[in-house]
Amino acid sequence: MTSKPALLFVCLGNICRSPLAEGAMRVAAKDAGLDMHIDSAGTGAWHVGNPPDSRAIATARGKGVDISGLQARQVDVADFTRFTHIFALDAQNLADLRQLAPTDATAELALLLDMVPGREGQAVADPYYGDESGFAVTWRDVSAAADALIARLSR
Ligand code: 4NP
Repeated sequence: MTSKPALLFVCLGNICRSPLAEGAMRVAAKDAGLDMHIDSAGTGAWHVGNPPDSRAIATARGKGVDISGLQARQVDVADFTRFTHIFALDAQNLADLRQLAPTDATAELALLLDMVPGREGQAVADPYYGDESGFAVTWRDVSAAADALIARLSR
C-alpha cells in the first residue's frame, strides 16, 4: 500500500454524476500537479460496460474534459481496501456503501459534498431523469468538490 491517495467516486448508475466527478478530479489533480489514483463506480449494475450518458459527455466536453472513454462498473468489496477514500454522491449511495463495506475496510467513506465548506450533508442531485441543465449543476457541484479535495489533500 502506497501513501498515494486513491479516490473512488460512487453514484447509482456510474454514467452521470460519478464519471463527471472523476473527470473533474482528474483535471484538478493534473492542474495541481498531484499524483493520485482516481476512479468511479456505481452501486447498481444496470449500465456496467457502458460509456457515460451522452449529456454527461457533452457537459464535460464543454469544460474541455473528455470522459467519453470511461466505462461504467459496479462497486466491489475490494474497493474498500484498494482505495484510500470513497465518496458517495448522495445519501442513498452512502447508505448502500456502508451496507456493502467489509469488516476489514480501510477506505474512508464520506458524502462528497461534506468536503465542501457550507455544503455539508447535501447531495449531488441525480440529473438522469431531468434535462441538460441538470448536468451543468452536477458539473458545478463536482468541480467544487474536486477543488476542495485538492485543498485538503495537498495540506
Ligand atoms: P447516476 O445517474 O447515478 O448519476 O449515474 C443515474 C443513471 C442511471 C439510472 C439512475 C441514475 N438508472 O436508473 O438507470
